Amino acid sequence: MGSADPLELRRRPRRLRQSAAVRALVQETRVTVDDLIAPLFVHAGDQARIPVTSLPGVHRLSLETVATEAEELWRLGVKAVALFPVTPPELKDADGTEALNPNNLICQAVRAVKKAAPEMVVVTDVALDPYTSHGHDGLLNAAGVDVDNDATVRRLADMAVLQAAAGSDWVAPSDMMDGRVGAIRSALDGAGRTQTLVLAYAAKFASAFYGPFRDAVGSRSAAGGKYLDKRTYQLNPANPREAIADALLDEVEGADLLMVKPAGPYLDILQRLRGQTRLPLVAYQVSGEYAALHAAAERGWLDLAAVRDESLLGIKRAGADLVITYFARAVAESLA
Ligand code: PBG
Repeated sequence: MGSADPLELRRRPRRLRQSAAVRALVQETRVTVDDLIAPLFVHAGDQARIPVTSLPGVHRLSLETVATEAEELWRLGVKAVALFPVTPPELKDADGTEALNPNNLICQAVRAVKKAAPEMVVVTDVALDPYTSHGHDGLLNAAGVDVDNDATVRRLADMAVLQAAAGSDWVAPSDMMDGRVGAIRSALDGAGRTQTLVLAYAAKFASAFYGPFRDAVGSRSAAGGKYLDKRTYQLNPANPREAIADALLDEVEGADLLMVKPAGPYLDILQRLRGQTRLPLVAYQVSGEYAALHAAAERGWLDLAAVRDESLLGIKRAGADLVITYFARAVAESLA
């Protein structure tokens, strides 16, 4: 059976896969704890952790818990957290006024994390959707039918300066307005914040994979539970050329890192962008990607740890240097 005369094969690719040691020696891509950014949701109440039903294992954390969570992540080797506020509905209005309150939830959370884990890189979201009663990422125009680009950009620049003053290390505009990276860079520099980085959500698509995130921050309920159509600012999932062109503008405007979002369904965008920029690339494995793997694993259809690791490897292989992922803590624990 197995002992017939060997074929005359000069090339036997399987030689490189014959043992765990050889496989480790020739492994081309790795996910390490240095690659991970952990997203954290913060709520304004006292309850330590409020589960997000559509994101198993993810919670909205109180200010106190967000600080201990950051401290534990730091001890596990995770070096960055991305903070998202769950603004109480009574503080939301059409203009997202709360975004510019220097003592708002995100600013308090930044200070709490910095106190608990001073070296942790804190990333803050610059967009109005956590603060607006309509759930859009910006101010609506006079007709109330679309987001007003330039008025929104001015607001975002002020937000970025406010977050940097609270201690944010990386401000991350997630809104997709035109010109906001340049405006934010100028505003930061004008405020003496030359060392604050801008992580641009450079190629962010109008994706249906954001659903569970919108549950978590309440932008879906703010919109009356209806699907929020953001197609006048987020990218068309069908358009890779447009995506690359838009992403490269963020580099020209002064972004320090470029992001592609979502990750798994957009690996081609990551790979193309990798060939077009020398900046570090970040991929956001978004809430729907995480939830889908969890849901299948819950039914016993997939092995969660295995698909988690494989999905992250795929994202790195496509060209990402860093990954924002709800799996960050679990991966860090498995690597520890
Ligand atoms: C909005 C924002 C979204 C996410 C991060 N920032 C959702 C949206 O555009 O509606 C989604 C992240 C995720 O799904 O995990 N500024």
